[in-house]
Amino acid sequence: MKPKVFITRKINQEIVAKMEEFCEVSMWEEEEVPVPRDILMEKIKDVDGLFCLLTETIDEELLETAPHLKVVSNMAVGYNNIDIDAAKKLGITVTNTPGVLTETTADLTFALLMATSRRIVEASSYLKEGKWKTWSPMQLTGQDIHGATLGIIGMGRIGSAVAKRALGFDMNVIYHNRKRVSKLEEELDVKYVEMDHLLKNSDFVCVMVPYTKETDKLISKREFDLMKDTAILINTARGGIVDEQALYAALISNKIWGAGLDVFENEPVSVDHPLLSLDNVVAIPHIGSASIKTRLKMAEVAADNLIKSLKNEEPECVVV
Ligand code: DGY
Repeated sequence: MKPKVFITRKINQEIVAKMEEFCEVSMWEEEEVPVPRDILMEKIKDVDGLFCLLTETIDEELLETAPHLKVVSNMAVGYNNIDIDAAKKLGITVTNTPGVLTETTADLTFALLMATSRRIVEASSYLKEGKWKTWSPMQLTGQDIHGATLGIIGMGRIGSAVAKRALGFDMNVIYHNRKRVSKLEEELDVKYVEMDHLLKNSDFVCVMVPYTKETDKLISKREFDLMKDTAILINTARGGIVDEQALYAALISNKIWGAGLDVFENEPVSVDHPLLSLDNVVAIPHIGSASIKTRLKMAEVAADNLIKSLKNEEPECVVV
């Protein structure tokens, strides 16, 4: 008998077909609507493997209703949607998809940094709304990227890929990380600094840490108070790392200059969220890894991880 698998969103048919060679697959057939919790609760009772996205909350209650579940394969590098301790306790393997999305996410992070500092979205609306009457000396002026100091909080895979891009723009890169990464310091010419030093000295503060209990609201009022009034915050990691109320307060009081946000505390962010009313916020809908090639690779890696776990082989990317 083939092991049973549930996929929580419609994914590429070729990848499903590959899984079907080894598993009996059922799939939530929607692309834009997440599987409702009650349906997931029902489905999970019966399956050996779950292929899920960051939109699903895989908590203890859910895992405990799954007597046959051997593996949860998350199609994301982040796994804050999964209760890792509960999975460990219940002997369920959790896998993720690091590596394949690093460069694409770094590209987007840099694009967001550039769009925010040079007011690209605002300038485009200005033109399309017929506001462009003349060229004028200080019209839509932003902050320079070349020669600026970029402070990266979290020098993991994506953080280092962002640093590489910054060096091509003649930026001065400083970073803070739980551990110093001496090899990278030499390779990339980046400098380790204490967190407060980074906040005080960066023109761009780029958040690149995973979301955990320790990083919850890591950037809050105290941190904004330390930042330059010309500083720009970029977050393509997880919304909960930044205290959104404190960010709003910092932006409207000109305590900092702008923010580029790909992620929000609650996603999808409500259109009447105060941050979205500000011209100095560039907001995009969690598209860091959203290139066609990368999203397909992520689905492929997630499928491989799932199949290998069900075959009792070692999957490539194990969290626990
Ligand atoms: C991840 O993988 O964790 C990203 O947030 C989505 O690609």
